[in-house]
Amino acid sequence: MEERELVKLLKDMSLEEKADQLLQLSADFFSDGEMLTGPALDFGIEPSDIENAGSVLGVSGAEKIRDIQKNQMARQRHHIPMLFMADVINGFKTAFPIPLALGASFNPDIAYTGAKIAAKEASVSGLHVTFAPMADLARDARWGRVMESCGEDKYLNSVMTAAMVKGYQGEMTEDGKIANGHLASCVKHFAAYGACEGGRDYNNTEISERTLREDYLSAYEACIKAGASMVMAAFSTLNRIPASANPWLLRKVLRDEMKFDGAVISDWASIEELISHGVAQDKAAAALLAIKAGVDIDMATGCYAANLPALVKAGKVPEALLDEAVLRVLRLKNKLGLFENPYKDADEAAEKAVILCDAHRKVARAAAAECFVLLENDGILPLDGRDDGIVVAGPFADNGRLMGNWAVFAEEKDTVTVKTGVRKACPLAKVIGMPEWISDRLDAEDEEALEKWHRDMEEIKRTSEAVVAAAASAKTVVLTLGEAKDMSGEAHSRTDVSIPRWQMELFERVYAVNKNIIVLLFTGRPLCVKSIRDKARALMVVWHSGTEGGHAIADVLFGKEAPSGKLPMSFPYSTGQVPIYYSCFSTGRPQLAKYLDAPGYPLYPFGYGKTYTEFEYSAVQLTANVLHKGGKSIFAGVRVKNTGKRQGREVVQMYIRDVTASVIRPVRELKGFKKIELWPNEEKEVVFEITEAMLKFYTAEMIYDSEPGRFEVYIGGSSDAVNKADFVLEQDTCEGGCTYELS
Ligand code: BGC
Repeated sequence: MEERELVKLLKDMSLEEKADQLLQLSADFFSDGEMLTGPALDFGIEPSDIENAGSVLGVSGAEKIRDIQKNQMARQRHHIPMLFMADVINGFKTAFPIPLALGASFNPDIAYTGAKIAAKEASVSGLHVTFAPMADLARDARWGRVMESCGEDKYLNSVMTAAMVKGYQGEMTEDGKIANGHLASCVKHFAAYGACEGGRDYNNTEISERTLREDYLSAYEACIKAGASMVMAAFSTLNRIPASANPWLLRKVLRDEMKFDGAVISDWASIEELISHGVAQDKAAAALLAIKAGVDIDMATGCYAANLPALVKAGKVPEALLDEAVLRVLRLKNKLGLFENPYKDADEAAEKAVILCDAHRKVARAAAAECFVLLENDGILPLDGRDDGIVVAGPFADNGRLMGNWAVFAEEKDTVTVKTGVRKACPLAKVIGMPEWISDRLDAEDEEALEKWHRDMEEIKRTSEAVVAAAASAKTVVLTLGEAKDMSGEAHSRTDVSIPRWQMELFERVYAVNKNIIVLLFTGRPLCVKSIRDKARALMVVWHSGTEGGHAIADVLFGKEAPSGKLPMSFPYSTGQVPIYYSCFSTGRPQLAKYLDAPGYPLYPFGYGKTYTEFEYSAVQLTANVLHKGGKSIFAGVRVKNTGKRQGREVVQMYIRDVTASVIRPVRELKGFKKIELWPNEEKEVVFEITEAMLKFYTAEMIYDSEPGRFEVYIGGSSDAVNKADFVLEQDTCEGGCTYELS
């Protein structure tokens, strides 16, 4: 449709029809494929609102979506297609590693391809929009949703999430539409949801404007630059104003400054929650606050549909404000080509051909292997597939729930377990599975849960005996330990980021009979692994690695692939250190910035990770020691050599420190990374450009600028690299007229 036709359509709509375009229904309204009016009571809306609803979330399946769309359009006066949205996070049916794991790959190509494959599978299933990526910067391991982020660093986060946006949306067609096989991407949760106090989900975020702008906004902005079609407002409050009622955030920062012109959606019921937040006394007041703040779509409540028409009639909401929001929704439908083809890619034959196809599984397998982070290895890894003395055991050894908490469409039955993967690579290995999840808190009221808890406890006791007995006579024990998938994710924050106690007891019992332990750590967040580090011969983080997890783990364990991931979040010594991140600020007493019972640095820092070979770095070379403000870039380079016996990949990382400035600056910040592959004895030169733009920050006067002075450039394989060179940023430039500072 042409823009003028959209405007004409808008003009032809009643106030009620307009408000309904902003209504997003939950799947409950269509759970048997038909429209259900029952849930309308909770929403406070009329059956006509349901008929005219602009979008629905959480429904999938080509046949079902076609039916719903067809019936819905037939019921309406204007036959406007609905938008079908869902959380397609780390894959659709073919689950990829969780986003935190993808961060560990330091490979934006993987993020891009994973999103592209997810979009392909979801679009043939009838979906139009994904609520992804989550660009929230995550520095507090207690927060359950760190698993949905790409970690603690703004630059890594920006690069990875922007790649995801491109993967989901693909290249636009010549007439500006989202191409077949792609989804519109909705970046979330705007803004700074990841900084919630104490890691408690849905909690207030209290950060300065400087910190917000300097660190937290970067990745959302990168996603918007990459073309994200939608933005989701956060559940949380920012400096005491809920994001869904924050015009400064949604209108000034997002629209005026970041130039975002797509649709903004609330998070689930977050408009109605303005009442619980205590900023609105009822649903009408909540609707008024949210529409004024700039939220276009009301997810899963009837606040807008039930109240906006009356608010317009009462003169409290200008009709132009409503029109603006509706037009954005219509434009999105148009961008997806729905006015021409309301079913877009929904196609049952394609679903059969594409979903979980070999090609997708193959990519998911390679992606998973590339995300693993090897923290320790005294040479015991890789193992030999011909070995008959290997025991693989623990709660993740025979477990199909490897897809992570947000892979809502992926199924256990389609997942390759560790047992399957290991048995193919090492037919003589003995594999002993165990229950994965023993709830920390037992709900005594819930009889079913109580019964399961007792059953699991019995099973754990029984299998623990079997594991210890098998370990006693084994050559090597691979223990799968960590967090079950339901121990991270939304509303799954923890006060203690340790491995569950019963698993550590198992580890100690096995260690008492066999010192050759390799620990595979399954997790959705950084965990405290100090005693494992001290005792195990190898320790590798395998996250929640998706549908092909079992194959990928076997590939790396038995040396078909080498690990090449680096930590996207620092792993603490203890929960008390959290939040702990590498780009912390300079203090007056760096040597004393520690605890009585723990150092001031983490157990494993951001960017850290080994592989099956060793790399040697040359000294950092700079093309010049002076960078002129407004002048040309300089370049920093190193030569990296594989000094070991196996081929391997290394993530070469460049960090910059601003030594003196008008405000305190982080001790260093990641400004570039490159993943390279080297064969034994091979050497490569890796060069990074250093631009003046990289040195900019919010100065004491809140001006985004660089300040002359000394800078240090660190290049190495981790955020604690010591290999460095210095340069100076000078004020003068002689290109196009010299400017000199007079002292
Ligand atoms: C989450 C969002 C998600 C939405 C829809 C909310 O609870 O915070 O991230 O997109 O639900 O499922």
